[in-house]
Amino acid sequence: MEQTKNKGFGSKIGFVLAAAGSAIGLGNIWKFPYLVGKYGGAAFVLVYIISTMCIGMVALLAEMFLGKRTKTNVVDSFGKVNKKFKWVGMLCVIVPFIISCYYIVVGGWSTKFALNYIFEPNFANGSSQLYFNNFANQGYMPILFTLIFLAIAIMIVRGGVEKGIEKTSKILMPTLFVLLVVLVIKSLSLGDGVSEGLKFYIGKMDFAQLGWDGVVSAMGQSFFSLSIGMGVIIAYGSYSNKKINMAKSTLYIVILDVFVAVFVGFAIFPAMFALGNGTELAQQAGPGLIFVVLPQLFQSMKAGQFFGFIFFSIFIFSAITSVISLLEVLTQYFMHRTKMTRKKSILVVGIAVAIVSVFISISIGNAFANKKLMYSVAGFNVFEYLDELSNTVMIPLMALASTLIVGWGFKKKLIKQEFKDLNSDFKFINLWIFFLRIVTPICIFAIMILGIQSKWVAYNSVGLNFGYVFLGFAILVAFSIAVNIYEDSKTIAKLKYRHSQKNITVVSTFNASIYIENAKVVKSNKKSDK
Ligand code: PHE
Repeated sequence: MEQTKNKGFGSKIGFVLAAAGSAIGLGNIWKFPYLVGKYGGAAFVLVYIISTMCIGMVALLAEMFLGKRTKTNVVDSFGKVNKKFKWVGMLCVIVPFIISCYYIVVGGWSTKFALNYIFEPNFANGSSQLYFNNFANQGYMPILFTLIFLAIAIMIVRGGVEKGIEKTSKILMPTLFVLLVVLVIKSLSLGDGVSEGLKFYIGKMDFAQLGWDGVVSAMGQSFFSLSIGMGVIIAYGSYSNKKINMAKSTLYIVILDVFVAVFVGFAIFPAMFALGNGTELAQQAGPGLIFVVLPQLFQSMKAGQFFGFIFFSIFIFSAITSVISLLEVLTQYFMHRTKMTRKKSILVVGIAVAIVSVFISISIGNAFANKKLMYSVAGFNVFEYLDELSNTVMIPLMALASTLIVGWGFKKKLIKQEFKDLNSDFKFINLWIFFLRIVTPICIFAIMILGIQSKWVAYNSVGLNFGYVFLGFAILVAFSIAVNIYEDSKTIAKLKYRHSQKNITVVSTFNASIYIENAKVVKSNKKSDK
């Protein structure tokens, strides 16, 4: 099988910052604050943190393990566990493609806004809503900035893992942390209203407002935010060297990701309450928050242009480090499949993404600016559609499949041995395996069903009801994995019996092909002993 020829990450810190760079993105800066506003403040934050610890972290480590062990692209890494699971890897290529196409559109908008603070500082004078509508709806302008944003990302990926992705992350991520602290300090020192903002953000635990809908959103958000279920951590893991301790790296990535999300809230909510009608502003969902409400706040803030520029720089840095991770998943796969060079592969991938993103730019610009469901599919506009589709269906599905495949594809002993060999032994490995095999998949499955129910089946009244299609699909997938494991266990039992009669002991797995491979090793060892 094709191995990752690229040299990979040069340092431990570079690996962690690149993975954290992928994790920290629009999810933290854009979505987290408005979900907190929508779903009852601290109650949402609490569920989010618990879900990140119990589910997100477990799945993240599983993906890293898969990448580091198989050292190949997402499709082949699943294929190496079992050829039958290659399709899971294929999903890992499709979803990042979809997400990069809309991610860069929003990245393009933020580039324009950051530049505004330099060249047109009073752009939000008057109505920031009107400005945004005109801009997003304009067609060629947003497309131009989308393509500029994409071009920058392509240049970075073109440089390779160490010289492109790692180097960029090592510069942008620490800068982002510093800028964020500056912004939080400014926001907390805005005087009257700050404490009210803090109270809104972390001072109330409104579980009634949270509801099941909020719980599902919190869990989905923790996946999305950690870049789980999209092959990113598998790809980055495949480029990681021996020195990298997986459990520790996972912990650092999670801490950085949660830290940034929570901190962004500290930057946004106090400012909202100090400078405007906080409660009302906080309910603003989607792009309104970043591209309408915030410019308005900066306009009424002392040195607002400076802080506006800082905010949108943070936004750009977080988005670009996420986009390069998505593009890397696609590029790595494409490179391995076609044997083309990195430079050619990223160009092909980039062009494909560019073409689709143009349509998305037009459609979501239109939808947001006119508040109409332009180009709607099943009651969602295209952006919502893609966002909900990936959050409630695709990502949980991928996370479910990968936790089951990694958890049950290897015998416990084998996993532990691997962690030792990969220099990643850790104290809680038994607990992790228990979560990976049982607790986490059950939780993910439950979220997926709840999510499909609340976001699709219940919501949807137009046209074909996608909810039921997804529900059926989810059950089918879970069923097929279960049947697979059951069939393998029967094969293994047969082989084991035969082997035991020949006095051969093979470390058993739950996966027939791995068992057979192990048996081969045992047999050849036996032969060479003789
Ligand atoms: N984690 C990113 C965010 O929070 C989104 C993302 C998911 C990026 C998967 C890359 C891969 O915005």
